Amino acid sequence: MPYPFQITSLDQYHQDHKKSVDDPEGFWGNIADNFLWKQKWQKVLNWNFKEPKIEWFRGGKLNITENCIDRHLAEMGEKPAIIWEPNNPEERTRIVTYNRLHKRVCQFAQVLRNNGVKKGDRVCIYMGMIPELAYAVLGCARVGAIHSVIFGGFSAQSIADRLEDAQAEYIVTCDGAYRGGKDIPLKSVIDDALVGNKKVKRVIVYTRTRTPVSMIKGRDVWWEDEMEHAEAQVEKQGVVSFPAEEMDAEDPLFILYTSGSTGKPKGVVHSSAGYMVWTTYTFVNVFQYKPGEIHFCTADIGWITGHSYIVYGPLSAGATSLMFEGIPTWPDAGRFWDIVAKHKVNILYTAPTAIRSLMGFGDEPLKDKDLSSLRILGTVGEPINEEAWHWYDEKIGHKNCPIVDTWWQTETGGTLISNLAGVTPAIPSWASLPMPGIQPVLVDENGHEVTEKDEHGHLKGNLCIKAPWPGILRTTYGDHERCRKNYFATYENLYFTGDGALKDDKGNYRITGRVDDVLNVSGHRIGTAEVENAINMHAGVVESAVVGYHHDIKGQGIYAYVIFQGRHINDEMTRMDILQTVSRIIGPIAKPDKIQFVTGLPKTRSGKIMRRILRKIAEGELDSLGDVSTLLDPAVVDEIKNNRL
Ligand code: WT7
Repeated sequence: MPYPFQITSLDQYHQDHKKSVDDPEGFWGNIADNFLWKQKWQKVLNWNFKEPKIEWFRGGKLNITENCIDRHLAEMGEKPAIIWEPNNPEERTRIVTYNRLHKRVCQFAQVLRNNGVKKGDRVCIYMGMIPELAYAVLGCARVGAIHSVIFGGFSAQSIADRLEDAQAEYIVTCDGAYRGGKDIPLKSVIDDALVGNKKVKRVIVYTRTRTPVSMIKGRDVWWEDEMEHAEAQVEKQGVVSFPAEEMDAEDPLFILYTSGSTGKPKGVVHSSAGYMVWTTYTFVNVFQYKPGEIHFCTADIGWITGHSYIVYGPLSAGATSLMFEGIPTWPDAGRFWDIVAKHKVNILYTAPTAIRSLMGFGDEPLKDKDLSSLRILGTVGEPINEEAWHWYDEKIGHKNCPIVDTWWQTETGGTLISNLAGVTPAIPSWASLPMPGIQPVLVDENGHEVTEKDEHGHLKGNLCIKAPWPGILRTTYGDHERCRKNYFATYENLYFTGDGALKDDKGNYRITGRVDDVLNVSGHRIGTAEVENAINMHAGVVESAVVGYHHDIKGQGIYAYVIFQGRHINDEMTRMDILQTVSRIIGPIAKPDKIQFVTGLPKTRSGKIMRRILRKIAEGELDSLGDVSTLLDPAVVDEIKNNRL
């Protein structure tokens, strides 16, 4: 058996889950023994959810990059770590072996050091999906700097807010990025984000699109120059080395910003050791990875899925991770299938929104595509509807590939609830069983465990977790109280996920979606308050309310009700102005799908917006609005109903 902690049968799953609950320290201590430590831990787990304080492997010293790279070199140095597929299929594929990855990461770590980066410094990374992005991430980890990767779809304003929140002093970016038919001018967005910023000392710029950029003297340097210079420093007589910083198990590894129910995104902080153990363990078990296989996770490294299942999990397991620069529908809707055939992909991990979108193109893009290398399929990011699940199973898996439906969150670091491919049963649209170490509980509004079953024999409630697992977030950057309030204060002594779920009598979970004011649009998390703030920035907007509604492809669409009293030529132009404002403030991903102009919003006498009513109207459930008599102005509901888009 290649991985000593690999679960290979349903029985073993049950035994391991039980062990992990009965004796978490013994269980995780054994698993952690399979990693490379500079010094062994003294205590496996120390925690309380009150503060919260969570420490895994306290006293242990390590560097995650030695686990992701160095320890594989002796046996697998010439095996591919990363296979890179460019946006343009005519461009050459790049294969990065573990040796090459080692060299590049050492070189980039040296570049960071040459530019003054020290352990604990925050480095913001804003790049397209190219191998250099992985080098940048791992280079930070090598010197002990905390990376904060920002997805390329965020605006200058969003970057500025994140730079400020993290007090970042360094940026790594590209001149531009290719995504489908578009070139995105990343450096120019960074320049906008840096107007007025006094904290950032250095911007390192990699050339990808060779688009004109303004390089500011004393601040901006070229990646290529810096790497060339560093090469001689890290390579002596053909031997490459850069000493990996000794990190405490609990030292922060990275910050990743994510939306919540308040206006401002929070910087989720993950630790070094616990995160490493969790991503590796879940990667190997959920996908039942076998050495030599090619794993293709289609996410962007700007999101947690890319951090955990393109970079850290697979590399720590010594896997081959395929990284794709482009999008599924360019140059045509057969692109994923071409990539699967070209690189003989074994594991394909993607989002339901991508599946639904590709399903919409029919069978034509699948014609003559050789998908026979596929062994395992996975989904992540949002609930998958049964129709999409069956399409994935039949058309892509040819009913031969187990599908794993992995439920997790930015905050959880890796998968918490999922079937294990081919080992535990798959049930369409059910995430199914908790991973070892995970103790879910469904509670009602008051935090009491639900006991009453519905007509299908299911329990239904708000999904919480009773005890920490190694990959749980440790804090929200710069504001621990915010972390406590957001996740640990709703229900005493529980981690609250923000999701609702059902549970059947075999212990399987089905995630029904968010129960807070967070939307999930195409698998991207967006807070309604955040979108409202952005809309309200537009000069003519008096007030707005944003809700989600069912969208066939995106899962959820964004529906905005807007009171507008500004200069107005016609609705369409004002809508475009509002969309432009949202793009500027957050980014194109947060643009509402529908904007309805209203003269008032349904509010209670205490001034609270009744979102329940707005949600129902957006969904078209006009006959089940419920009691509106407690509203300040019930007449406004009729107006909104009549003008519904
Ligand atoms: C939210 C977390 C996990 C990485 C990508 C998204 C929803 C995630 C599933 C799934 C149903 C899912 C939840 C969760 N979600 N996976 N398999 N089934 N819902 O990470 O941006 O932190 O969003 O995505 O609502 O809370 P994220």
